[in-house]
Parts: sequence; C-alpha cells; structure tokens
Amino acid sequence: MEDNIRHIANAILFDEDKALQGDREVREISVDGDIIHVTIAVESKNSIDDRRAMEDEIRDAIKRWHEDKIVRITSVAMDDVDVPCAHHHADANASGHDLPPKKSIPGVKHVYLVCSAKGGVGKSTVALNTALALSSLGKRVALLDLDLYGPSIPSLVGQDLPPIVVGNLIVPPEIHGMSVLSIGFMIEQDQPLMWRGPMVASVINQLLWEVDWSGNDIMIIDMPPGTGDTYLSILQSVNVDASIIVTTPSELALADVKRGVGVFSPYHVPVAGVVENMATYDWEGRDAVLGLLDNVKADDDTSKKAIERIKRILDTTKAIRIFGARTQALCSKMGLNLITSIPLDIALQNDNDSGTPYMLQPKKAAIREAFETIAKFIIERDKDTDEDEQA
Ligand SMILES: Nc1ncnc2c1ncn2[C@@H]1O[C@H](COP(=O)(O)OP(=O)(O)OP(=O)(O)O)[C@@H](O)[C@H]1O
Ligand SMILES: [Mg+2]
Repeated sequence: MEDNIRHIANAILFDEDKALQGDREVREISVDGDIIHVTIAVESKNSIDDRRAMEDEIRDAIKRWHEDKIVRITSVAMDDVDVPCAHHHADANASGHDLPPKKSIPGVKHVYLVCSAKGGVGKSTVALNTALALSSLGKRVALLDLDLYGPSIPSLVGQDLPPIVVGNLIVPPEIHGMSVLSIGFMIEQDQPLMWRGPMVASVINQLLWEVDWSGNDIMIIDMPPGTGDTYLSILQSVNVDASIIVTTPSELALADVKRGVGVFSPYHVPVAGVVENMATYDWEGRDAVLGLLDNVKADDDTSKKAIERIKRILDTTKAIRIFGARTQALCSKMGLNLITSIPLDIALQNDNDSGTPYMLQPKKAAIREAFETIAKFIIERDKDTDEDEQA
C-alpha cells in the first residue's frame, strides 16, 4: 500500500503542469489502522495557497484508491532540514519513481484494460465481444481475464480448457480464434477464490510474464471491479495503451466513473473512453404494431391523424433511453469520450448465460454495431503507433 501511496503522491508532486517550485519530496508515509498519513516537503518559496492546493489534490487522489481510509497530508518546509534532499526534481519520474520501470508484454503490440469501479456493469461482456469484433476485423487478439476473484470469461466463452505448458511458458488455449486465458481455466469450478494481496500480484505476474502471448496485435484485459490490488499490479508493471471504462447510466455507477478515472492518472495511463451499457431499450413489439397500423384503413381525417400520431410515438420507442442522457452529460463535463452505447437486450443476456458469445452470431444490428464501434475505435487509436513501427 505504501508503494501505491508514494506513487500517487509523486505523480502529483512532480506534475510539470503544477505550480510548485523547487525541490520537493514525499518525506514519510505511515499507515496506522484506518489512517494514512503522508508528509511532503516543499521549498518555502511556494505560497501557502499552492501548498494547500497540492495537499488537497494528493489527498483526493489517495482517497480514490483507498476510499475507506482517512487521509492526512502534512506539508513541511524542505529548507528547514539539514539533510540534502534525496529526490531532486530533475531525476524524479512520476511513472517510475522508486518503482521498477514498466514493461511491455512480449509479443503483444497493444494492451487495453476494460474497467469499472462498479461491479456488474458489463465489463466482461464488453471485453469478450469487443475482442471478438477485433478478431473479425482481422486482428490477432488475446483476451486475458484478470478478475481473479470472479473470473467470468470461461462461462462466457462456454469453454473450460486448461492451458498447456511448453518449456517454461503457459500456452493459452485458442478459443473462437483468440488466445484466451483466465484463472478460471486453472482451478476447480466453484472453488472459492480468496487471494491475499501478495498472491494477487504473483498470480498476475504469472498470467502476464509466464505465458506465451506472442503473435498478438491487441490484448484486451477484463479487469475486476474496483480499484484494488489487480489495478495496482497492472498499472505499476505493464505498459498499457489505455483503459476503457464501462458504466451503466445509474447515478451510482456514474459516481464510480469519476472515482475510476482518477485511478489511472498517477500511472499515466489514459482513459481512451467510456462505453455506456444497458442505457437503451429497443421495444421489440414496435415493428409488429407498425405493420398492423399500415394495414388499418382510415377514411376520415381524424383517424388518419391519430394513426400518424401513434406512428410518431412508436418511433420514439426505438432505442428508448430509459435513464436519459446522464452518461453523455458526465462525459462532456469530465472531457471524456463516450465511445458507444450498448442496448439492454435479453439475447445478449441469454448468450452470456449459455456461453455462446453474442458476436459469433449477432442478432441485432444495433448491438453488433456497438461492439464493432469499440473495436474500430481501438484500431483507429492504434493506427499511428502501428504506422510508426512499419516506417
Ligand atoms: N447489454 C446487456 N443487456 C443485457 N444483459 C447484459 C448486458 N450487458 C451485460 N449484461 C448482463 O449483466 C450481467 C453483468 O455483466 P458482466 O458480467 O459482463 O459485468 P461485469 O462488469 O463484468 O461484472 P463483474 O463486476 O462482476 O465482473 C451479466 O448477467 C450479463 O449477462
Ligand atoms: Mg466481469
């Protein structure tokens, strides 16, 4: 936990856009039960307002990761101390400060995290179907389930294939044309999954670095809900292209988007965009009613007008926005990109339940297009780096 706190504090302390001047350092971190205490030292030429603003920002950022703790920040004057400062601005690096540098996953060109601070919003559904959409667009795709506490990918793909080991490396099974790996493939089904913090890091290390991931253009990582140990392990150690945040339009889920976004900034991982899930509903009876209305013979003006009116009303039932445009409003406010919106649909739910991924046989254009939009968005985003590599 101290590492994570130090990293967050350093990321803000050494952000070049901030007003602080001169040397600065995180002097002390202590975690005492529910209280996190961080002492930062800055030069006394900084104004009291700048120091307070810095303290507030560090406190808020730490709270995003450790919301159940009380966070106290104290800033002291650096110049009062005789001992020379160990970390000078010039050699400080927010992404690697006091931590080993991040590494790329061998054989994988791009890595995207599908995340949400809130559970059950559709991360695994989005991760799987976006991966399949990418695959159908000709990309070589790896799908890694890092939800160690509740791995869903085995049941969503309808297969439970133990990976094989060749030499020192695990070879992920090929499922629906993708390299797919989940802790669920390696343990007994229904076994309760209780990991201690250090075990999480070691299992994640194994799934990342002891696996033959070679030959993949894009890795989609299905993350667990929250902002816990898995996020810490990944953000500290892996070069990640970006995160994609999934949300439903409920106020609680949207509040978690705000919290979730703050998790990535200390680690310099951009939020590529937001995917809204289960926000619209397409009433299936609409087309049938419209068909019936077409066959009604209306002789008088009043009846004709009434039929036109009913048709107009029915038109608004295509993709009914059950909760209004809350996600769009939040994204605009936070400067986030709303990539697409996936309708609430019983077929998607049924396919998930039966382990036959929706995108293998998409039934509705709106849902297929939504997953393809995410896939195309990722491909477009990666184009610049891919072109640089080819040049
Ligand atoms: N667009 C949708 N329409 C209907 N049902 C959906 C839709 N998206 C997801 N679901 C259903 O909602 C539930 C939660 O989805 P999913 O498991 O993908 O969420 P999650 O965010 O990965 O959950 P967790 O936080 O537990 O990992 C599942 O039962 C899934 O089938
Ligand atoms: Mg999930």
